Amino acid sequence: MTMPVSSSVVSNSVDRATFENLYAGKAPWDVGKPQRPFVAVADRVTSTVLDAGCGTGENALFFAAKGHRVTGIDFVEEAIRRARRKAAERGLAVEFLVKDATKLGDWGERFASVIDCGLFHVFSDDDRRRYVDGLARVLEPGCRLFLLSFSDEEPGTMGPRRVSRQELYDAFADGWEVESVQPCQIEVHPEFTEVKFSEGGPKAWFAVVRRKG
Ligand SMILES: C[S@@+](CC[C@H](N)C(=O)[O-])C[C@H]1O[C@@H](n2cnc3c(N)ncnc32)[C@H](O)[C@@H]1O
Repeated sequence: MTMPVSSSVVSNSVDRATFENLYAGKAPWDVGKPQRPFVAVADRVTSTVLDAGCGTGENALFFAAKGHRVTGIDFVEEAIRRARRKAAERGLAVEFLVKDATKLGDWGERFASVIDCGLFHVFSDDDRRRYVDGLARVLEPGCRLFLLSFSDEEPGTMGPRRVSRQELYDAFADGWEVESVQPCQIEVHPEFTEVKFSEGGPKAWFAVVRRKG
């Protein structure tokens, strides 16, 4: 069955209920393949990998297909259900867990890489701090976070919160080294037309951040 593309991404409200509504249909970011910047850095990603805010799992599944041990977490059960179904259909062993990414600090797991495709930009300032503190706990010292977020260069206010390059440097000022922040674009589902983003997709940043240690 083909589901309609959810059309309620019209505000910056990003609580769990908002995401549950979006996953009641086909979420605009759910393009059925990994986002390009993650494909471009694939040879720099090492196991074990955490995909934080994995949605229905395309990025996690891409790295699993490359032979990595991957865990994907998301706080929406329906997203995790779909991710597990895809993994089974593709014969890929990925651990998909319903988990809140603002509570990583309580978790005993450790990872050699973290990927974040569209999660950082959903957080309030407080949740952003909690998330980054938690990342420092789960990412091994010397290892890297690969992060794709909406950019303040994307015009308008519809869709997720805009993030400036400086905010990325500020969020990772203590105990991290921001190795690069490159402009790029996020691919959105072609059927999602309610918000008019830039030609080629919303403008974004792709950051590579190393945990010092
Ligand atoms: C823009 S979507 C991106 C999904 C996926 N990374 C992708 O690229 O298809 C952001 C995702 O983060 C999840 N999310 C938001 N806040 C979260 C939180 N506190 N803990 C875990 N997941 C969260 C949402 O449910 C949603 O799946």
